[in-house]
Amino acid sequence: MDIAESYSLKNHNTFGMDVSCACYVEYGSEEELAEFFSAGRQYGLPRPFLHIGGGSNILFTGDFPGTVFHSGIRFISAPGHSAEAHAGEDAAMSGRVLAEVGAGTPWDDFCLWCAEKGLWGVENLSGIPGETGAAAVQNIGAYGAELKDVVREVRCFDTVTCSMKSFKQKECKYGYRDSIFKQSAKGRYIVTSAVFELSSEGGPRLEYGHVKSAVEKALSESSVKTMTPGLVRSVILGIRDAKLPDPAEIGSAGSFFKNPVVPKVFYEKAEHYAKSKYGPDYEVPHFDAGSGFVKIPAAWLIEQCGWKGCREGNVGVYEKQPLVLVNLTGKASPEEIIALEKKISASVMNLFGIELQPEVEHV
Ligand code: EPU
Repeated sequence: MDIAESYSLKNHNTFGMDVSCACYVEYGSEEELAEFFSAGRQYGLPRPFLHIGGGSNILFTGDFPGTVFHSGIRFISAPGHSAEAHAGEDAAMSGRVLAEVGAGTPWDDFCLWCAEKGLWGVENLSGIPGETGAAAVQNIGAYGAELKDVVREVRCFDTVTCSMKSFKQKECKYGYRDSIFKQSAKGRYIVTSAVFELSSEGGPRLEYGHVKSAVEKALSESSVKTMTPGLVRSVILGIRDAKLPDPAEIGSAGSFFKNPVVPKVFYEKAEHYAKSKYGPDYEVPHFDAGSGFVKIPAAWLIEQCGWKGCREGNVGVYEKQPLVLVNLTGKASPEEIIALEKKISASVMNLFGIELQPEVEHV
């Protein structure tokens, strides 16, 4: 277990905010966590406590006065699985593979592992920054897939009872970028690993946007004419590269806002606005969310307000995807990001009467 005081978090948040925490704790195993909490060592550390993953969905609004925890538990294990053999006899017959992944494992390392083994399940979630523990808390999603579709169990350390507790998928209460770990269980449990169900015999999920046509094009250009998780993964990585900034080059936290789910009347008003601006054939992008509700892409709302590609000092709205706020110079302060966030929200409220909620956690 590594413990450091006055520790810089600049390399622990993809926004690149130059902030620090009073104390930083990195642990390498469940046993280390258990020993630490059972011995009461947490009582000597500054509060509050915050557990981070890859810091890819966090905006630090200033120096953090408490203790930041980070998992160094990194492993991918699928007992009995190799490219040829699958875990357990039943599983082998159905092509089903259960893989357990340590919380500190970069999420995309796991996606790559699956692609290399020819396993279906997480290929559409390829390239999402961050670590597996945070992915299970956040229910990451992209291109028609969500973590909740493939996760079977989330193993946690209970900081109250100092023992391990497993949550079955249903107990995690997954919703859109939401779970029990962001609600009633927040702060109590530390995710140490998650178990995923993959399949060697599944198939691609191509319903989202132009994923199908992009995959078909890739297949026609490929020398091997078989659809594989690796092929879908490479198409998804290509789509992401074309639309989203590379955190290694431009600081961001991915989608800054959630896509709002609103009563249909808001969509009708937006459609009225758009048709009078662009003509009667124009259609506002939207997805039916049931019970008279509609999900409208926040990217569209923000673009309509004229923010796409805008720059304000060190911060800006990404030119290819306006849902992403960026640290353009690497020198942005939290105040600049928050000022831009407020302006964007106010203009969307002004034009469409719709309230944008941040997706990025403000700490
Ligand atoms: N759009 C515009 N202008 C743009 C870009 C998009 O109007 O410049 C509209 C288009 O109508 C487009 C729609 O927004 O069809 C949706 O765009 P996109 O497919 O890029 O997805 P998104 O809804 O903006 C969500 C996730 C992303 C995820 C993509 C792809 C949220 C908050 N974001 O974005 O997740 O990669 O779908 O599945 O749900 C993240 O969470 O950090 C993230 C990047």
